[in-house]
Amino acid sequence: AASSISADRVPDMEKRKLMNLLLLGAISLPTVGMVVPYGAFFVPAGSGNAGGGTYAKDKLGNDITVEAWLNTHGPNDRTLAQGLKGDPTYLVVEQDKTLATYGINAVCTHLGCVVPWNGAENKFICPCHGSQYNNQGKVVRGPAPLSLALVHADVDDGKVLFVPWVETDFRTGEDPWWK
Ligand code: FES
Repeated sequence: AASSISADRVPDMEKRKLMNLLLLGAISLPTVGMVVPYGAFFVPAGSGNAGGGTYAKDKLGNDITVEAWLNTHGPNDRTLAQGLKGDPTYLVVEQDKTLATYGINAVCTHLGCVVPWNGAENKFICPCHGSQYNNQGKVVRGPAPLSLALVHADVDDGKVLFVPWVETDFRTGEDPWWK
């Protein structure tokens, strides 16, 4: 008797599974069809945008992978990448050969020159009017009134993703002026 009950149930369960699959298929297909164009509208393919961030690009316009970057940039390196809104932004390699979790916007807070990194001096020194910033971009000499802006340098699928920095500036303990 027991075996005949379970034998009766098996086909029912198979039918139910099939019904569920059909239901899921019927529901999910139009949903997918609606979501994809919606997403494509706000995130045009190839724009490099991802959830409010922008993939860092090298000088050739290619996405930067952490692995390749660390293979070609040693400790204490600061090299420009293309950042949020196209702003030149330094990627920072720490002394322990890891990529820093922040990037430094290279636009001088005085009158907007791009500030070069001077590895020998361990500072950013602006060629326009001599402002200086320490190796984290904190202003140490005027006329620049403010430190260089920060961005987050996150890692997404092995690639560097710049995300706006809206939290406290860890160098000054103050709210970011660039928000
Ligand atoms: Fe950099 Fe003036 S623009 S010091």
